[in-house]
Amino acid sequence: MLARAIDAFLDHDANISFLADPKLKGSSSKGALRLKTMSVFSGGELLLNSIINVVMSGVTGNFKFTSDRNLVNPAFEIINVVGTGFKRTGYWSNYSGLSVSLPERLYERPANHSSFKQQLYPVVWPGETTKKPRGWVFPQNGRQLKIAVPSRVSFQDFVARVTGTDMFTGYCIDVFFAAVNLLPYAVPYQLIPYGDGRNNPSGTELEYDAAIGDIAITTNRTRMADFTQPYIESGLVVVAPIRKLSSSAWAFLRPFTREMWCLSGVFVLLGGAVVWILEHRINDDFRGPPSKQIISLTSRSIHAGERTIGALGRLMLPLWLFAVLVIKSSYTASLTSILTVQQLSSPVKGIQSLLKGDERIGYQQGSFARDYLVEQLGVQESRLVPLRLPEDYAKALNDGPRHGGVAAIVDERAYAELFLSTRCEFSIVGPEFTKNGWGFAFPKDSPLAIDMSTAILTLSENGDLQRIHDKWLLRSACSSQGAKLQVDRLPLTSFEGLFSLCGLACLVALLIYFTKMIYLFNQRYSEPESSGQSSRSRRLHMFLTFADEKEEATKARSISRETEWNSCTSMEQNASTFSSQRAS
Ligand code: SER
Repeated sequence: MLARAIDAFLDHDANISFLADPKLKGSSSKGALRLKTMSVFSGGELLLNSIINVVMSGVTGNFKFTSDRNLVNPAFEIINVVGTGFKRTGYWSNYSGLSVSLPERLYERPANHSSFKQQLYPVVWPGETTKKPRGWVFPQNGRQLKIAVPSRVSFQDFVARVTGTDMFTGYCIDVFFAAVNLLPYAVPYQLIPYGDGRNNPSGTELEYDAAIGDIAITTNRTRMADFTQPYIESGLVVVAPIRKLSSSAWAFLRPFTREMWCLSGVFVLLGGAVVWILEHRINDDFRGPPSKQIISLTSRSIHAGERTIGALGRLMLPLWLFAVLVIKSSYTASLTSILTVQQLSSPVKGIQSLLKGDERIGYQQGSFARDYLVEQLGVQESRLVPLRLPEDYAKALNDGPRHGGVAAIVDERAYAELFLSTRCEFSIVGPEFTKNGWGFAFPKDSPLAIDMSTAILTLSENGDLQRIHDKWLLRSACSSQGAKLQVDRLPLTSFEGLFSLCGLACLVALLIYFTKMIYLFNQRYSEPESSGQSSRSRRLHMFLTFADEKEEATKARSISRETEWNSCTSMEQNASTFSSQRAS
């Protein structure tokens, strides 16, 4: 371009003249500079104008300056140097961004601000490859990073050493491989097992360049090393034996606790009493003999709305009905779940109930859980039992604290879930009480920790982390049994108590009724029948007719009989009086 401008300038004025610079006149120099011979170029303005006036067609399109001396549509060609030659990879302009099309064409279209649309031809990298070289993170002089991996003896789905080799497999190892592959540079490394192979190793001395595996990120550990972002959540939980609550005859009492039942009873009686007080003087329904009123007190309380007529009674009504509605619906909801879903129960309810007792607690040997229980939760060391293998977990839980076992085990959720996937007689009880996760450890301020964190987040966002999880840790043995916990048909046992109560109530009511009836029957018919020629069957027939009759009819008949009887008696008396009078 400069050559083109100078050409234009020379075409314009072929004579170039240099003037002696007056500023340099007085200076003396013993060196090579011969300042007196130096002149000043006086055609700068002309040269500048020539440059500004250049109009030509370049590789990136038309080349021209605006009046304020800026390039019109500035653009650059991007080249890829390949060996001693080069190839065009694309163009860049502020307006169109990176592109493979000529910017002058793109200036006719809307501006391309989306980075997704920006593209170039593939770059050929040294080695004649189009695969992006990843470079080296540390100037290691070819030295491999020494990465420590625990030699686990239990829960080897997380980390397991391939016998006789220095190779490892497992969930944590797959996550590490996937994350390393996402780093924008190559990391040469060597996996070094640590631990004696008989016990799960505890802690990691960072004489290594990194440590990977099922390493929980804890406060103490972050003081010694930098951790990546967690790649799995794994807080501490309590695992305890559970038993299924068998369907009991008194299941209908379970929705409410004893206190709740008592309070509900008191509430119903009090409510009835209040309605009675408010309505007694103005409502005929609330009058009558005391025995009748006491019996109907509870039903009035529950059905308060049906017959209240007083202003106060009606004022109390909405609140009262709402309270009754809530209690009724809560009972219904709770009873539904009790009857239709198999209930599981455990004497241990969670970490709090475990801490209150003094029973032995199991923990995974080598885990940070032990220190946490002792230092943070103040559990006595004598209560803690180290357990190595899942089989030891099961045995200790089955034996129970009274027979040399443990009441519960405190371990990280990841291990607990793996353990429980094949053992449905135990369960996690209570909530997770710490929020831990596992990460990879690096020496303090290692840039690798940050890049690995980014890689782990990428794995999490693109779903690979979940896929690796499902590959190693997705078990469904107990969840399929869990599905069976849903009860399809309700067994008789759930209602035995209720039916027995109803039966008993019916029996008592009938007993009272018939006693009363027999008493009334005897009272009404004893005297006329006492004259006595009627057989037993006739008497039974009479009793049944008496029981079948409406009470008013019986009363009326008995009154008429009495009247008849009385009139007969009086007639007889009159007759006898009359005859005696006549006789006298
Ligand atoms: N995850 C446990 C811990 O980090 C055992 O390795 O201590």
